[in-house]
Amino acid sequence: MDDKFPVLTYLDDRKARVDKTLREVLPGPEAPPALLNQAIQYSLFAGGKRLRPILALAAAEAVGADADPLLPLIAPLELIHTYSLIHDDLPAMDDDDLRRGIPTNHRVYGEDLAILAGDALQAMAFGLLADPHRAPTIPPEARLAAVYELAVASGGGGLVGGQVLDLRTPPPSEAVAPDGPERASALATLDGIHARKTGALIRAAVRIGALLGGATSAQLAALSRYGEGIGLAFQIADDLLDVDATPEEMGKATHKDDRRRKWAYPGVVGREASRAIARQWIDGALDAIEPFDERAEPLRGLARFILDRRS
Ligand code: IPE
Ligand code: IPE
Ligand code: MG
Ligand code: MG
Ligand code: MG
Repeated sequence: MDDKFPVLTYLDDRKARVDKTLREVLPGPEAPPALLNQAIQYSLFAGGKRLRPILALAAAEAVGADADPLLPLIAPLELIHTYSLIHDDLPAMDDDDLRRGIPTNHRVYGEDLAILAGDALQAMAFGLLADPHRAPTIPPEARLAAVYELAVASGGGGLVGGQVLDLRTPPPSEAVAPDGPERASALATLDGIHARKTGALIRAAVRIGALLGGATSAQLAALSRYGEGIGLAFQIADDLLDVDATPEEMGKATHKDDRRRKWAYPGVVGREASRAIARQWIDGALDAIEPFDERAEPLRGLARFILDRRS
């Protein structure tokens, strides 16, 4: 396996393609109501790795598809993600002031607009994905399957449900003994929150790329396992970066999970065990796509990136 895959170049290149597509398909900042479209553009184009659409593109490539024509259906994944960040930062949720290196949406546009920008982004994502005029060569069944994936992953059984658990599960107890019975139950609670609030959309992104790319059912099953593994590892890495990285690197406040008594990996099992568990999820993900040929190299590179990233 080639671990020399130039993942940073790949990320840069695909991010540019995703951003170009987003600019093409979204109403401009002058489109009425201008305030809404400005609020949307403010958060969407503030930066962001574009990891979810990039994973979808890489999954489509891994099953042998030409990914570029799929961009109009794949880029909308970023709209769901951006809506989730705008709402996650609201005073009623994590109450954050900084996102993607700039003040959070509600700090600039007010809570009313931040809520509504998030609502509009969510509806837009589904509208773009379902629009038969975009990527018209995609079979209607594949498109419908993608809409279904996105709806399930975004809703109460996925992202929204995970945010509810994140906000309302009573905080973890101070210390969890490494061999005690409470460790297993604490890890189950953490994974239940993480798999929903973050894992579901990442897994769906991979599956949507695979479905639109024409994956076989065996390929789809392998890629689902990959998506699940990297999704959990991604949120563990986010929890670790909250402890280890700087606000300048992350473009958002750090050291906030502990302060808010959030369910987060390092606070529950320590940094070292957190890193080891994330590594296990990544190894499992790589294992799941072992049978794929070199066209899955981007997926392999992205899995490694998730652990190594500093932003
Ligand atoms: C941050 O996601 C929120 C989590 C789900 C942990 P990203 O780290 O992908 O944020 P952007 O899109 O790059 O800003
Ligand atoms: C965010 O998790 C998950 C979603 C937005 C669905 P966090 O609350 O840990 O994300 P950050 O750290 O604010 O980016
Ligand atoms: Mg949160
Ligand atoms: Mg947050
Ligand atoms: Mg976080």
